Amino acid sequence: MELTFTVNGESRQLQVTPMQRLVDVLRVELGLTGTKEGCGEGECGACTVLLDGEPVNACLVPAVQLQGRAVETIEGLEQGGELHAVQQAFIDRGAVQCGFCTPGMVLSSVALLRVHPHPDRGEIRRGLVGNICRCTGYHKIVDAVESAAEEVE
Ligand code: FES
Ligand code: FES
Repeated sequence: MELTFTVNGESRQLQVTPMQRLVDVLRVELGLTGTKEGCGEGECGACTVLLDGEPVNACLVPAVQLQGRAVETIEGLEQGGELHAVQQAFIDRGAVQCGFCTPGMVLSSVALLRVHPHPDRGEIRRGLVGNICRCTGYHKIVDAVESAAEEVE
């Protein structure tokens, strides 16, 4: 089946098969390996991307549902060589250790701040509830999102 959709604002036309998932399209077909696959069954959030602005687990989205839709991945966040405020805050606040959860955490954080620009710490924790980190203990991730909230409109 041939589909047309956008990835990070760029139009893409691709043949997909019924068994392919969004994470396969991104990593294998488009080489966008910033999106990670952990559990492969919707439990860890490592594969989180934005679909029409909403965070989704790319391992659970069938590629055949992509027609006419807009996907945002970690590769699309920097603008003109500048990291997104959330990316920069994760670095500055030491919120990255092994980094495997980071793309998904960052995209969930970006989605949270778009709808809720000034969340308190509890709201940040709830906003990131589907994203699991085995390294950081979450404290520094919450610090990073709190600090990015001061930068993001
Ligand atoms: Fe998709 Fe874990 S890899 S939720
Ligand atoms: Fe290692 Fe989060 S930094 S899983």
